[in-house]
Amino acid sequence: MENIQYNVFERTEPVVLPEQLGFGKYFTDNVFVMDYSAEKGWYNPRITALNSLQMHPATSVLHYGQTIFEGLKAYYTANGEFQLFRPEENFIRLNNSAKRLCMPEVDVDFCVEALKELVWIERDWIPRGESDSLYVRPFMFGTDPFLGVKPSDTYTLILLLSPVGAYYPEGFKPVKILIQDEYVRTVRKGLGECKTAGNYAASMAGAEIAHKAGCTQTLWLDAVELKYIEEVGTMNIFVQFKDEVATPMLSGGILPGITRKSTIQILKDWGFNMNERLISLEELLNRYEKGEVLEIFGTGTAAIISSVCELKYKDRSLVFCNREVGKLAERLFKELTGIQKGVIEDRYGWTAKVEAQTITT
Ligand code: COI
Repeated sequence: MENIQYNVFERTEPVVLPEQLGFGKYFTDNVFVMDYSAEKGWYNPRITALNSLQMHPATSVLHYGQTIFEGLKAYYTANGEFQLFRPEENFIRLNNSAKRLCMPEVDVDFCVEALKELVWIERDWIPRGESDSLYVRPFMFGTDPFLGVKPSDTYTLILLLSPVGAYYPEGFKPVKILIQDEYVRTVRKGLGECKTAGNYAASMAGAEIAHKAGCTQTLWLDAVELKYIEEVGTMNIFVQFKDEVATPMLSGGILPGITRKSTIQILKDWGFNMNERLISLEELLNRYEKGEVLEIFGTGTAAIISSVCELKYKDRSLVFCNREVGKLAERLFKELTGIQKGVIEDRYGWTAKVEAQTITT
């Protein structure tokens, strides 16, 4: 891989961040970009001022949706350092999505180093509030100006940075979720386990129905039998039954979340009977009636840990934890954000320090 070229916007004014950051509204001054062609492979890696993209109207991604993305975060730590959470995992998952969509894979180590370099340059943008972080959005898309349906021969990868607060408008307050079976999000052997735009486009009509029902999101059912709960779309879902914690197994229709994987590990280490398995809606409804469902929460990079206070399904309403944040969700939130922000010792080696450095590969 060539050396990274720098054409950096050098800010003269200090970065001033609003108190309420919300999610995905603000962007740092610079991005990392590299291009791909079938002949050259990945080339021209650069850290450059953020600018609008110019595209030919025939650009393939605009027509056939060959685009994939990731989400991870950089944190300002308790002792004034900067770190990322499990960045390799995101680029490995990006490569898995790339394979499924006939897109080129990236060099994971190079991308992690490039990201560290970019985050170091933009470190003043890392917000310091309790739920705040610098969200990293790596994304790749096909750029051929060609209307035939085939994999693009050319691609661009961009690492975009956005200082963020809580993902949901509720903040850390518990969310209401609707289970609806009018639409499905993804199907096994389809694109469900990829992080690709189409899955999110497919989720919007269901999310609108959820909003009209006073809920924040939809909990999707499996697309084959409409029988098993799968994921929320912006987060994976966990159910604390009285004798176990369960999360839907990775069936091919579910995103293999990195916060999901970390949560499973932590719960096992805490001694919970943690299982990845099929969870039918019927089981959930029946066991709720018997008082055997203690708590439900979601996990995701953007959402972190999000307690669910109510699940609505047709004319039924399942209420959890007196509509308060669940105890397990709160404990997990503290543990995860504690590790991410360097308040709790990282006994797993999940964090990656961002320090002054220059890539010279
Ligand atoms: C994430 O948690 O990073 C996501 O991708 C969820 C959403 C913002 C698309």
